[in-house]
Amino acid sequence: MKRMEDEKPMDRNLAMDLVRATEAAAMAAAPFAGRRKKEAADQAAVDAIRFALSTVPMDGEVVIGEGEKDEAPMLYIGEQLGTGSPPPVDIAVDPIDGTTMLSVGRPGSISVVALADRGSLFTSHLAYMDKIVVGPQARGVIDLNAPVVENLRAIAKAKGRKVRELTVIALDRPRNTEMLQAAQKAGAKLWLITDGDVTAGLLAMLWHEGGVDALMGIGGTPEGVLTACAVKCLGGDMQGRLWARDDKDRDQAKAEGQDLNRVLTLDDLCSGENAFVAITGITDGELVRGVRYFAGGAQTHSLAMRSVSGTVRWVEARHNFGRLRKVAGARYEGEAEEEG
Ligand code: FBP
Repeated sequence: MKRMEDEKPMDRNLAMDLVRATEAAAMAAAPFAGRRKKEAADQAAVDAIRFALSTVPMDGEVVIGEGEKDEAPMLYIGEQLGTGSPPPVDIAVDPIDGTTMLSVGRPGSISVVALADRGSLFTSHLAYMDKIVVGPQARGVIDLNAPVVENLRAIAKAKGRKVRELTVIALDRPRNTEMLQAAQKAGAKLWLITDGDVTAGLLAMLWHEGGVDALMGIGGTPEGVLTACAVKCLGGDMQGRLWARDDKDRDQAKAEGQDLNRVLTLDDLCSGENAFVAITGITDGELVRGVRYFAGGAQTHSLAMRSVSGTVRWVEARHNFGRLRKVAGARYEGEAEEEG
């Protein structure tokens, strides 16, 4: 029989530990739904996820996170997390993906964190990345250098469908107009989202049987790396390319030695074979339900995945506020009583 001490450090499924962290962030953020307090929501989620990740048995370092583009309260790049024991891992984290959606009371905000072997995650301070994400059937046929119509034809062929039977999901932003017009012209259906392209990428992989066929367009870089970790787990495909808004971004790219023309493959974004991802819904969404309350507690709905095994778990949890208060304080119960 294999003894505990014989196990390789990454034999442990850290996705289960990560779920505790995204659940914590989701519960800390959920009371802010629709209250138009973005900063406070971000701060609550950051504090909760930092607290929960500090207990995970790992020697973790944040290599990419939110906050670069909107100077939000953040887990900074280089921050050490975990108990400090092996395994050494890279961390990608977005305590709230969809902060605006949460703050104005729209569905679809999530908390997400990913881990991979140390040195295996792509990192950059540039805020934006062009992306294409597809499900397992279209693996190996995408090319960010090729025109949109060619990608759509290749995806359609791989799936035995017509381009007009494909749905492309994308952030509704002026910077994506050209791509959207090209997709429309090619005949594909569009699903435009206001925010949250991690969820969109996951839908392309999990709903690949006709629901969503590809995520395309420019979104956040941390979200790109988080998505790449999920692609490693779910078996789809992805390419990315850093996108500069202005000269400041171009200077940043130069300082980092990044080539803005370089197409980043899935392995450039997440090179290791050991990736773990956890996602918990904050407000109700297409992928996971948001935090629901009952007397004395809350229910969360999460996804936990691991690349080595390919196992994806949908995790429902019931949390008892009274008991949690003793170990984590009242952080999940919202701010002081409602005004008025
Ligand atoms: P945050 O909530 O973490 O700020 O991200 C929301 C989001 O919509 C991401 O999903 C997406 O990648 C990025 O912002 C797009 O950036 P922008 O809103 O600046 O176009």
